[in-house]
Amino acid sequence: MAYTNTMAYQNILVETNSRISVLTINRPDKRNALNQATRDEIRQALDSLERSLESRVLVIAGAGDKAFIAGADINEFEGRTALMQHDAMKGLRVFDAIEEFPKPVIAMINGFCLGGGLETALACDIRIASDTAKLGQPEINLGIIPGGGGTQRLLRLIGEGKAMELILTGDMITAEEAERLGLVNHAVSPEDLETKTMDIANRIAEMSPVALRMAKQAVKNASRTDLRAGLEAELDLFALCFASEDKEEGVRAFIEKRKPE
Ligand code: COA
Repeated sequence: MAYTNTMAYQNILVETNSRISVLTINRPDKRNALNQATRDEIRQALDSLERSLESRVLVIAGAGDKAFIAGADINEFEGRTALMQHDAMKGLRVFDAIEEFPKPVIAMINGFCLGGGLETALACDIRIASDTAKLGQPEINLGIIPGGGGTQRLLRLIGEGKAMELILTGDMITAEEAERLGLVNHAVSPEDLETKTMDIANRIAEMSPVALRMAKQAVKNASRTDLRAGLEAELDLFALCFASEDKEEGVRAFIEKRKPE
């Protein structure tokens, strides 16, 4: 049954409808920059969505028409010492929480996707961008480096040479170039962004939640382990799918030439 659920947060909006949850960073005046309060709320929302049976796929978006997320809130960096910054980022970081989220996560990138914004998108499973979006890791301009996984996840996606160029120059690239690099899955017109994102989200949301979870975990293993360990983990996860009712139903539906329920 489709329903809408808007919880009370200060910096984000969370809405679930027909199995798809949309988490919108809602600080458009600050180009949706991630301050501590926003990161805390994202963590809380992820905890609650992980438990929700209705929510099958998560879309992360930015409010307004200018930015997905323009990075960490730079105001919070002023006067901060190395130790203070290290303490502020201890524990499970929001980027890691997104990556560890057991359900599929899609980034819907409508505009500036910079620094911690690109790192948020990199932690997602699929990235769809408006062709007006600009993406980059501009931290070097501030005399710092990406600290939310950018130095690790970006190169896994686009290779060391291109990742190094983006990180060392701080240059922004267009969504079309990001698509060429494999950094975003699709670059579409701003009018088509939501339709394209929801189309993919809806198709995924129809799949077995058990199989989706196993698939995400198996693919994630590829960048975390060596090939042998990854293949062994894949076999375990593959076999585990055979413990689900969804597998019986999926196979029976194929044999009976009907749509699985
Ligand atoms: N942290 C804090 N505030 C930010 C921010 C960030 N990362 N990005 C934008 N803002 C704020 C601006 O300070 C400004 O606030 P104000 O209206 O109170 O002065 C508001 O958002 C609008 O920004 P503005 O620069 O006027 O918008 P723009 O559309 O001309 O430019 C950007 C947008 C994203 C290109 C530009 O804001 C920018 O370069 N931001 C920083 C990006 C960055 O370095 N991110 C990595 C951080 S580690």
